[in-house]
Amino acid sequence: MKLHLVIAFVTLISNFSSAFLLFDSDPKWTGLKVTWGPNPLSSSYFVNQPRTAADAVKQGFQKISDCDVNAKWRGARYVKDGDYSLTLLYDVNGYIAGIQTSVPKSYGKYPKPQIQPPFVEDGDRWVVSAYFTDPSKICSTGRTADEFNQQGTGTNLYVQNSTKPEDSFMVPHKESGMTATKWTEGKCFYTMGKHYWYDLSLDMSCDGMFPMFLLYNGGELNAFGWAMVANLPSKHLEHPSPSTYGLFMKEVPTCLMSSGVLSTMHIYLTDSAYKDLC
Ligand SMILES: *[C@@H]1O[C@H](CO)[C@@H](O)[C@H](O)[C@H]1NC(C)=O
Repeated sequence: MKLHLVIAFVTLISNFSSAFLLFDSDPKWTGLKVTWGPNPLSSSYFVNQPRTAADAVKQGFQKISDCDVNAKWRGARYVKDGDYSLTLLYDVNGYIAGIQTSVPKSYGKYPKPQIQPPFVEDGDRWVVSAYFTDPSKICSTGRTADEFNQQGTGTNLYVQNSTKPEDSFMVPHKESGMTATKWTEGKCFYTMGKHYWYDLSLDMSCDGMFPMFLLYNGGELNAFGWAMVANLPSKHLEHPSPSTYGLFMKEVPTCLMSSGVLSTMHIYLTDSAYKDLC
């Protein structure tokens, strides 16, 4: 009799815990890696990035600005070797909060006014920002150690499309949420995922192309990237040429075929890009 009760109790508990696992629908973003490359074993590709400011400093990053609730972005900003194409953002407690890329004004030809914002002015550069946690908290409360341990790299992807970080839009976690948006379904590429581009069309102007793509795997957002119609020098940037665009887009805008190479950066929120099979 007693044994039956114990078994019933254990069954009940395990049903409960699996029910909780089911409700825990947020994928755990367990990592932060940047730059796709053809050789996963090369140290130049899928490069782990520090998820605390303390680790960033240990790895040779330098702080370029403090967390400031009046800035045109949120987070204390760190770069390595003066390469602003990869700028990491940390909250007031030093936990990872977002990422920026930037284009020096001296480049001249990009970004065009149509995408200023999402690009905002930062001295002699243009910067575009995405956050992994609620931008309104990054420079006020930040995350606790417990929250960082539970949530990992972040809870949601917020993209800044104005000069106000708090007005950033949130990207749907589930691919099913994309149907009601202007994001255009692109193609699947192993070690990346199913691409989505913003409002693509054959006859669009490349001057207004939103500088970002999203990546879904198993129906969940777990990576994204920057895509700039410019040829920018950085070891963190990939430089795909027009002949490859058809691998990532279902219908390649005509203007892209004569715009030269792009500068892109794949940004992985997990630590297992090899599992990204769409
Ligand atoms: C960014 O803002 C512009 C101007 O408000 C808007 O037209 C565009 O659709 C926005 N982009 C995204 C990806 O939401």
